[in-house]
Amino acid sequence: MIRKQLCVAVMALTAAAGAAYAQETVKIGLIVPMTGQQASTGKQIDAAVRLYMQQNGNMVAGKRIEVILKDDAAVPDNTKRLAQELIVNDKVSFIAGFGVTPAALAAAPLATQAKVPEIVMAAGTSIITERSPYIARTSFTLAQSSVIVADWAVKNGIKKVVTMVSDYAPGADAQNSFKERFAKGGGQVVEEIKFPLANPDFAPFLQRARDAKPDAVFIFVPSGQGATFVKQFIERGLDKAGIRIIGPGDVTDDDQVNGMGDAVIGTVTVHHYSAAHPSAMNKAFVAAFEKANKFRPNFMAVGGYDGMHLIYEALKKTGGKTDGDALMAAMKGMKWESPRGPMSIDPETRDVIHNEYVRKVEKVGGQLYNVEFATFEDVKDPVKAAKK
Ligand code: PHB
Repeated sequence: MIRKQLCVAVMALTAAAGAAYAQETVKIGLIVPMTGQQASTGKQIDAAVRLYMQQNGNMVAGKRIEVILKDDAAVPDNTKRLAQELIVNDKVSFIAGFGVTPAALAAAPLATQAKVPEIVMAAGTSIITERSPYIARTSFTLAQSSVIVADWAVKNGIKKVVTMVSDYAPGADAQNSFKERFAKGGGQVVEEIKFPLANPDFAPFLQRARDAKPDAVFIFVPSGQGATFVKQFIERGLDKAGIRIIGPGDVTDDDQVNGMGDAVIGTVTVHHYSAAHPSAMNKAFVAAFEKANKFRPNFMAVGGYDGMHLIYEALKKTGGKTDGDALMAAMKGMKWESPRGPMSIDPETRDVIHNEYVRKVEKVGGQLYNVEFATFEDVKDPVKAAKK
């Protein structure tokens, strides 16, 4: 009898401890591509999230932070299933990551249904944040950089452009926003080329671009594909034919630019992040990141690092409460200094506002970097701004 009572008491105690543990832990489901074509994005974000936690600890507002990493291989059906499991079984308070637009979109209805904040750390199509009131973005939009590319091209005597983009939503955003702005400045897009997202062979498309004899090729490929594109661009002799590469900074991504060779020196792109950004904060970030990982952080890493900052600061504001509405309210309008420079979350759209920098590939200390030389401050997503 006594033994039985003891047993019951121990069971009750264990259950109480379990409940207390559950209450005291805030879980973040991190869904990124760790395998497949987009794996470099997962590698960068995972490394940045771990660095953020190493620097800022794993306790926030009295709660222990636990990150559950899941690999969706950038396949949206996987993203959806993993998000569902994380929300229902693991009871996560945030879902985060999302290496490509289709993945971010696939999770949106679940975020809405469960009122679980979805922190988009990588994807860049404008429409994403409109798909759920529980989405906030720390990555970027393609339109933010592409309109500035157009202005720069007009000012620098580029008149005829062939656009070349991956055939999915962010490619369409990049192309449309570039083309519209470029036309306003008197420029002309003479040919619009789209190639498949999966395993593209750029060579035949590059031949078509070359035949159109443009001043420049406006290129968008997702992070991870830039090196192949540039290699084939040079092999096909487009650089020798005097055709310039312009575009959002994805093509001269810090993850790959140093391996692209000297032919890429002088390439001008526009982006929100360069590992060569000269702030004290970025220098410390890059040094700590490289020490921990033996590779250079790129713009995906920064999206992950800032996403963790947004989560930590929102939890501080709610006093550790994980109610989705309270967390979203806490995130709106939040401002901070990022390795990319100053940034904030637009209180109206929950989208990122940050500087865009015009950069040129240069050799610095024997390595290739995107060196910033002009700044456009506090750029909002132009697609949403135009809708207002
Ligand atoms: C996207 O799918 O939204 C995406 C992925 C990689 C990039 C940019 C956009 O570099």
